[in-house]
Amino acid sequence: MKVLVCGKGGSGKSTVAALLAKSMAQRGYNVLVVDSDESNYGLHRQLGMELPPTLMDHFGGKRGVKEKMGRRSPGGESPGFFDGRWTMDEIPAGATTEKEGIRLLAIGKIHDFGEGCACPMGVLAKRFLDNLSVGEKDMVIVDTEAGIEHFGRGVEAGCDAILAVLDPSFESILLSKKIAEISEKINKPLYFVLNRVDDERKAAMLESLDGTRVAAAIPETKEIFRAGLAGEEFQMKVEEVERLADLLVG
Ligand SMILES: Nc1ncnc2c1ncn2[C@@H]1O[C@H](COP(=O)(O)OP(=O)(O)OP(=O)(O)O)[C@@H](O)[C@H]1O
Ligand SMILES: [Mg+2]
Repeated sequence: MKVLVCGKGGSGKSTVAALLAKSMAQRGYNVLVVDSDESNYGLHRQLGMELPPTLMDHFGGKRGVKEKMGRRSPGGESPGFFDGRWTMDEIPAGATTEKEGIRLLAIGKIHDFGEGCACPMGVLAKRFLDNLSVGEKDMVIVDTEAGIEHFGRGVEAGCDAILAVLDPSFESILLSKKIAEISEKINKPLYFVLNRVDDERKAAMLESLDGTRVAAAIPETKEIFRAGLAGEEFQMKVEEVERLADLLVG
């Protein structure tokens, strides 16, 4: 299964991706976390890992990727990054780091002033996910950049389900409607993960949200806050994330 995690800036996308990855690994899944957020540098720390060399580096950096974007695959239908489909085992080991049953792959990162836009990274993320074959015990969790640009790039096409992380804010509510609209159009199951909520906040959000989509409601906790602020690995187990994992594997 390939699951994409999205939502507004700071809603808790990376937190949910990291916690879910840990839960899935503990259940014996072969987990790949795909960091497709080119601007942020936090996810690998939440997983207790070093940032690996990016997939973009593997393909010769931005220049290499741009060159390949111009090429056609044997069928002629898409830019030819890949000679054939990849299984999880065929992902180049040099482009990932691994810890306790979780592998992390970063698509690409913005490093410098004036280096150009992130479009080649978006194309690479889409092609990589489209090209990746997964088995029953494989779980791919894609952490995205804030907002909905990835929908515009079509990254969701290669995914089986979408998780929208919604914090208690007007912006998240608005975004949830847009994401629901797009998910329906592309026919992908969509679940809402409410974050930083207690019963009162959850009830208030449900006044404006489609409650049937809510798969988890994660409370604001000191453990997550402290680890997040310190850039430390998430060691905590979160009941609502376990519920989310049950639902996904069920
Ligand atoms: N339920 C929670 N309880 C306490 N702190 C939380 C919770 N969820 C997220 N945080 C903290 O909020 C901060 C932002 O979370 P996170 O990085 O996951 O958001 P994001 O949506 O990935 O942000 P960005 O849009 O910048 O990628 C982190 O420091 C994280 O530890
Ligand atoms: Mg993030």
